[in-house]
Amino acid sequence: MSDAAVKYEADEARDAAYSTPLAEIDVADPLLFKNNTMWPYFERLRSEAPVHFCETNEEAGPYWSVTRYKDIMAVDTNHQVFSSEGGITLRDQDEDFKLPMFIAMDPPKHDEQRKTVSPIVAPANLAKLEGTIRERAGNILDSLPEGQPFNWVDRVSIELTTQMLATLFDFPFEERRKLTRWSDVATASEDSGIIESEEARRAELLECADYFIGLWNERVNAKEPGNDLISMLAHGESTRNMDKMEYLGNLILLIVGGNDTTRNSISGGLLALNQFPDQYRKLQANPSVIPNMVAEIIRWQTPLAYMRRTALEDTEISGTRIAKGDKVAMWYVSGNRDETVIENPNELVIDRERARQHLSFGFGIHRCVGNRLAEMQLRIIWEEILKRWPDKQIKVLAEPRRVHSSFVKGYEELMVEVPKRSH
Ligand code: HEM
Repeated sequence: MSDAAVKYEADEARDAAYSTPLAEIDVADPLLFKNNTMWPYFERLRSEAPVHFCETNEEAGPYWSVTRYKDIMAVDTNHQVFSSEGGITLRDQDEDFKLPMFIAMDPPKHDEQRKTVSPIVAPANLAKLEGTIRERAGNILDSLPEGQPFNWVDRVSIELTTQMLATLFDFPFEERRKLTRWSDVATASEDSGIIESEEARRAELLECADYFIGLWNERVNAKEPGNDLISMLAHGESTRNMDKMEYLGNLILLIVGGNDTTRNSISGGLLALNQFPDQYRKLQANPSVIPNMVAEIIRWQTPLAYMRRTALEDTEISGTRIAKGDKVAMWYVSGNRDETVIENPNELVIDRERARQHLSFGFGIHRCVGNRLAEMQLRIIWEEILKRWPDKQIKVLAEPRRVHSSFVKGYEELMVEVPKRSH
């Protein structure tokens, strides 16, 4: 799409956002994210109704939106009042297909299960993984067709994160695309085109559970517990007696957590550097900025647009009364663009000061377990890109195709061309 067409669409979205009555604004509408037109709605809410009530979303039911950085921080760090137990997406899980997972639990069970899998991302383990990730990132980049269009999402972002996930689970490497599929199925809405029906989704997820039960059975009897996520769950005090649905729930958490988010940050980073070519040049002039840039990319992308909480008692957020039982969405995607806290928030600034102060990983007791691993993968892929193309830029050829979801904020397709290298 041409720059003029993109600008025209942005202007249209702004008009729509500012002419809709406040009570009718529904920022959880996945189409806003699919079309990338949610920005002016959030801008308006931050300024006119920072704690906003929506009653018009049939799937989600009535919910509050918290859109300012400081209010989000206040809700996220107050788990005594804002519970995760009711679920972390606005749509409730179906009563007849509930998948318990520790991201959607409160203490003490949450803390125990989180502790069980945390060693996978301990600094010593990350150091061990670094060489593997670097080698794989290099192989992926070396296999790309030079001078021809291809989909970066599939060839690079999905491939790297899926290989990583297979390693964390010690999952049969050749079958690793099953993990990508289960990740997509777990988060797909019925009209996304990924699944045919809710029944089909459940059937695929149960296949996922059966496959992993096979791996669990192999690992549970091993003399020496392995250093992989399945072994950790199978031997962990608080996880070894999980039933099938709780095992599946926690698997989905680890699959989606470790896959979609990092994947979309890898794609988002390349897109952002194309939108801000002066930043791409700054990066090439000074690759030591990469660790800082990675944090900035994760802010700019915000791969999970929100997390939901449920109020356990009557309370208030910045003077607005919230009743016991109400659903509250903390819109990280909006907090990360809060102009009162972050200067020029819509711009990618790779050497931004305090770049790690973004909300993308959440805060409080549920803060992302995998944040250092995600940053490491992004750092390595960019280090390896710059080794191969130190002065030529990877070009984005068209507007990306975005995911139909207001929860997972990401890309299905990003067509690019990598420059020819002299071999
Ligand atoms: C850029 C990449 C990533 C982003 C943006 C991200 C984002 C998040 C967010 C927003 C939360 C919830 C925070 C809250 O409620 O306060 C979370 C939790 C979690 N993430 Fe990540 N994540 C990423 C990568 C990963 C990776 C690579 C893994 C796995 C290895 C992972 C595993 C988890 C787990 C297990 C939780 C639940 C933590 C808990 O409930 O205590 N994430 N993540």
